[in-house]
Amino acid sequence: MNAIEIRNLTKTFREKRAVDGLNMTVPQGAIYGFIGENGSGKSTTEKLICGLIQPSGGEIKLFGKDHRDQGVRSQIGVLIEAPGCFPNYTVWNNMKLQAANLGLKNEDEEIRRVLHLVRMDGAASNKFKNCSLGMKQRIGIAFALLGNPALLVLDEPINGLDADGMRIMREILLGLSRRGTTVLISSHILGELEKIATHYGIIRNGKMLREMTAAELNADCPTYVALKTDDMEKAQAILQRAFGRADMDKQTGEIRVYNVYAEDVAKYLFGNFGIAVSEIRTAKISLEEYYIDLMQEGRK
Ligand SMILES: Nc1ncnc2c1ncn2[C@@H]1O[C@H](COP(=O)(O)OP(=O)(O)OP(=O)(O)O)[C@@H](O)[C@H]1O
Ligand SMILES: [Mg+2]
Repeated sequence: MNAIEIRNLTKTFREKRAVDGLNMTVPQGAIYGFIGENGSGKSTTEKLICGLIQPSGGEIKLFGKDHRDQGVRSQIGVLIEAPGCFPNYTVWNNMKLQAANLGLKNEDEEIRRVLHLVRMDGAASNKFKNCSLGMKQRIGIAFALLGNPALLVLDEPINGLDADGMRIMREILLGLSRRGTTVLISSHILGELEKIATHYGIIRNGKMLREMTAAELNADCPTYVALKTDDMEKAQAILQRAFGRADMDKQTGEIRVYNVYAEDVAKYLFGNFGIAVSEIRTAKISLEEYYIDLMQEGRK
């Protein structure tokens, strides 16, 4: 069963079509990376999924049921923008209020459970306003986790986190996923998303441009050899002829040759033309490069 199935979803704000005939499928158990430029409609879609705003048209199914179904609504945890916390209250008291709002049983036990999941066991007595950004983001996730939802919707939860904060968030999300929680996460930090996502959806102007699994992305992202020589222009021309394609990467000043072995390229250049390779490395097209290419294609 799919956790989320969206067909032909539309949301219009006055004249503006923020979401425009969007289709989206998030399989159960996925960590679904939701990507798109500023203003492409990610947050709006997430708000629609969570019932925070109403669609202008189309259909949203969650675990096979209409998203307005009360039973299914209680299965969704959401963090969009900042958690609604009282700054002068402690983390614990903020959690108590939220637990009461949700009408949870075993409040204290549940709060301890979710604080433990986000590694904030020791921070319950801190005032919310004194928490760091990384802690606040994790408290936001803890809020979303109250009641043990089957689906978590997180809007840019790793924005502004330092490397360690991102690592902790990554471990938390992977841990939740292992427990069977489906995670929908939007982010602009593609290098980080790439470390955890099992599925991707790329949105553009309110429409789904492409959906794919991590394996499909992987297959679409070739490996390449990047190298420098003492005669770059000549080397590029030779490699272009020999291997069909050799691009000059202006940013790194390297020549890129795709789907070849580094050793073969170096031997070929030196053996046949006496061109010595000064630097050589093998790499793979990243999600970020893939995404930038895709966006540029769309503009042509
Ligand atoms: N309440 C609203 N009233 C009017 N227009 C809105 C409203 N909410 C969103 N929009 C517009 O809808 C479009 C999509 O916005 P949305 O916030 O969903 O984009 P986003 O993909 O989340 O962008 P970002 O990456 O910047 O967070 C934008 O043009 C935005 O200005
Ligand atoms: Mg947004």
